[in-house]
Amino acid sequence: MTLINLQPLLLKNGHVIDPATGLDSVTDILVKGGRISLIAPDLTPEEGEEVINVGGKYVVPGLIDCHVHLRDFEECQRETIASGTRAAVTGGFTTVICEPNTKPPLDSPERLEALREKVEREALCRVYAKASMTRGREGEVLTDFKALKGHPLVVALSEDGNPIVEEQLMREACRRAAKHQLPLSLHCEDSGFSLARKPKGLGFQPREPFHNEPGFIARDLRLAQEIGGGSTAGVKVHVSHVSLAESIQIIEEAKKDGKGRITCEVTPHHLFLDETSRGPHGLPFTVNPPLRKKEDCTALQRAIKDGTIDAIASDHAPHREEDKRAGAPGLIGLETTLGVVLTGLIHPGLISLKEAVRLMSTNPARIFGLGGGSLAVGGPADITVIDMEREWIVEGKRFQSLARNCPFEGWRLKGQAVLTMVGGRVVMREGVVKGYGL
Ligand code: NCD
Ligand code: ZN
Repeated sequence: MTLINLQPLLLKNGHVIDPATGLDSVTDILVKGGRISLIAPDLTPEEGEEVINVGGKYVVPGLIDCHVHLRDFEECQRETIASGTRAAVTGGFTTVICEPNTKPPLDSPERLEALREKVEREALCRVYAKASMTRGREGEVLTDFKALKGHPLVVALSEDGNPIVEEQLMREACRRAAKHQLPLSLHCEDSGFSLARKPKGLGFQPREPFHNEPGFIARDLRLAQEIGGGSTAGVKVHVSHVSLAESIQIIEEAKKDGKGRITCEVTPHHLFLDETSRGPHGLPFTVNPPLRKKEDCTALQRAIKDGTIDAIASDHAPHREEDKRAGAPGLIGLETTLGVVLTGLIHPGLISLKEAVRLMSTNPARIFGLGGGSLAVGGPADITVIDMEREWIVEGKRFQSLARNCPFEGWRLKGQAVLTMVGGRVVMREGVVKGYGL
């Protein structure tokens, strides 16, 4: 990433909110050499500094989406590093963490190196990756955790799309993840594929596919908690896209003695859509985990409010229209997540903007050990500027993403990112995206 020769920039009069440093006031931010150089009110611009007046807007640490599918390397281009990161910065994200279920999967340092080369050429924001927990993502042989940990893009391991079915394999995964200090991003999506493997030693009776989320969560948290103590620091586990009230109860209980090592995320679609929701052609939305009952949405919203949920992530899962028609599961969200959160959680007073920033920047940075997530002086100038009052209508045809499978099409939202800065460089302003390659 080239940070030299960047013009110094002064963001003036914004309401700066940063849960990490406790900042919550109208002030100025001076950005120099890609870093935050000074935060103080009424700074006088010096020669050579570009001044951007952000009066009346909120200035927050760059948002981080910790669950994104960028798809690159696939024959049918459902998304690319370029299009996916354009979508990310349009939605106010300065960092995304992408999932390993590409074809072929991200299961070796070589695969990750190919991704890194593309990221260096094409990405508009920071991109990290979760490597897959098993070779070929086949759920049988664990990948080389030590080698994967050594790759600069890897921040966690995930088996996106499947749980690890065999208890013994999951126990070993927890042990090795603790040893190499790699968080496990659990996918308790009990697909038909995974249940067909006739799991042994689950400790619960498998029901129909996608009904066993709480069972897999309970088992995985139990195994994770058995590891640790002694000389190891334990394994960090992060439950991806929690969708059921029952799952929340289990996580809440486990967190009591989880010593901060258990975290979880929820998606905007599981918060605000339920099994009765329909798309423009009157069709139900296909996604894993499936949309649940209204009571589950209510329980997830309550868990956001009471702090049981640590992060909001889009699970941006691009698909082509013909694949969606054929039933491909997944919904996109990079360009709508912030607007949906502002409209559905903040404007109605369920949580404050500060809480939302915690869920969409501070916490994802902490959970996955990233450098950002704060506006600390001296730190990287990853910044999102938000207009809380701007009203807009979601129109897929305007998306930067190559995909259109967004469940919020046609929604009227209030609040939007108006400027995204990555490493001191403005990459999006008023919906206009600038240049490639950081
Ligand atoms: C995921 C995708 O498309 O990669 N889809 C989804 O519905 N979340 C894969 C998966 O989780 O099954
Ligand atoms: Zn996913």
